Amino acid sequence: MQAQLKCIQGACGATYSIDDVLYTCPRCGGLLEASYPGLSLDPPSVKRLWRERRMSNLALDQSGVWRYRELLPFLDFERDCVATLREGNTPLLPAPQAAHYAGMQSLVFKHQGYNPTGSFKDNGMTCGASQGLHLKMGRVACVSTGNTSASMAAYAAVAGMTPIIFLPHGNISFGKLAQALEYGALTLQVEANFDQILALVRVLAERTGIYLLNSMNPFRLEGQKTIMVEMLDQRDWHVPDWVVVPGGNLGNVSAFGKGLRELLALGCIDRLPKLAVVQADGSAPLHDYFHSKERGEFRPVTNPETLATAIRIGDPVSWPKALFEIENSGGTVERVTEQEIADAKAIIGRCGIGCEPASAATLAGLKKLVAAGTIQPGQDVVAVLTGHVLKDPDYIYRYHTGQLKTPSGAAIASTYGNAPQVVPNDPDRIAAVLEESLGGRA
Ligand code: F0G
Repeated sequence: MQAQLKCIQGACGATYSIDDVLYTCPRCGGLLEASYPGLSLDPPSVKRLWRERRMSNLALDQSGVWRYRELLPFLDFERDCVATLREGNTPLLPAPQAAHYAGMQSLVFKHQGYNPTGSFKDNGMTCGASQGLHLKMGRVACVSTGNTSASMAAYAAVAGMTPIIFLPHGNISFGKLAQALEYGALTLQVEANFDQILALVRVLAERTGIYLLNSMNPFRLEGQKTIMVEMLDQRDWHVPDWVVVPGGNLGNVSAFGKGLRELLALGCIDRLPKLAVVQADGSAPLHDYFHSKERGEFRPVTNPETLATAIRIGDPVSWPKALFEIENSGGTVERVTEQEIADAKAIIGRCGIGCEPASAATLAGLKKLVAAGTIQPGQDVVAVLTGHVLKDPDYIYRYHTGQLKTPSGAAIASTYGNAPQVVPNDPDRIAAVLEESLGGRA
């Protein structure tokens, strides 16, 4: 078995050394993926091994990514070091109130916000940073709507590499910006949007030899594919009917599809779940392309807008991979409004779970897909929450106090609002407020 980089364009299919520093195919410009021709595993014994590693104190075994390293053979684990913060190990959380809200009988969230830096990016970054270490890269860079940069800054610090971060000025949450600063990244706020900065950074990486850790880096997606492996391991390999996930640059759904296909080919599962991607209305190029009658050219959204800034992306790099994986699984793409995202987020909060705005697109999209009859109320659905509730506290405060507005300035109703109340330092008055606010509630 020889790991290699392979162009995903069927007509090209060029292969390159796994150690070439490439993000796209030099021959045709297509996206690349890590491929392991001839990889074969004995499913019962490898599943047992993965389960046993949960009892181990070895760093590699404690990571919810590297625990599945038989599926990540781009590194030589005898010789290579990995940069790990014990990422993954994220829970499956049943959420009856959210199920009810979406019209489902039951619903389980796979909450990637429980990662070390609070998002699913850590699953991918441990692999990207470790490949950077293997390649002896000194400087790493990314453009980000916030979570990738927080994650890259942390993993670069762990790996002893210098992180350089490019952010769309004014359009990332303070929680995420704060993380980048705290982890010590050189942070550049560019007066442009994500798509424009990504084009800029690709040129800079080429010119300066800085290692790019955006999701077009194939090793990032290798790590993110293990989110599906861990989810199935946690469900004793019982395959759900649907996996629902928000889509921005579309790396995550591409990684999920690849991981699931590999598990199927290796005989670890016997069917694929359907993949449903949810985009925000103002940043939904894949939705519009997927449902257009004559597909023709992929048309990016030139001025993407959404308060769910993590998915404020109009020209998603990984759309060809995502399209393939969604169609291959028999899945679909949905789009949701700002109001739908905000309300779904409040419901996830009321489950005691919470998430950042982009993650809530998942529940909002699921509700729509159930209403449309695409997903049946009794089906088995895993909805992926991508980021932690504390990533964007400003959004939360505004929603609950009736101050949240769409990017075009329209009011967002505080449907499930829970505004704080100011009370005097007076036990009688406070008792009266309690009675008035809680009534007969226990
Ligand atoms: N949810 C969250 C919380 C995200 O941060 C992102 C992407 C997505 C969903 C979408 O995932 O791009 O793989 O389709 N954030 C990137 C960033 C773009 O820079 O942090 P995707």
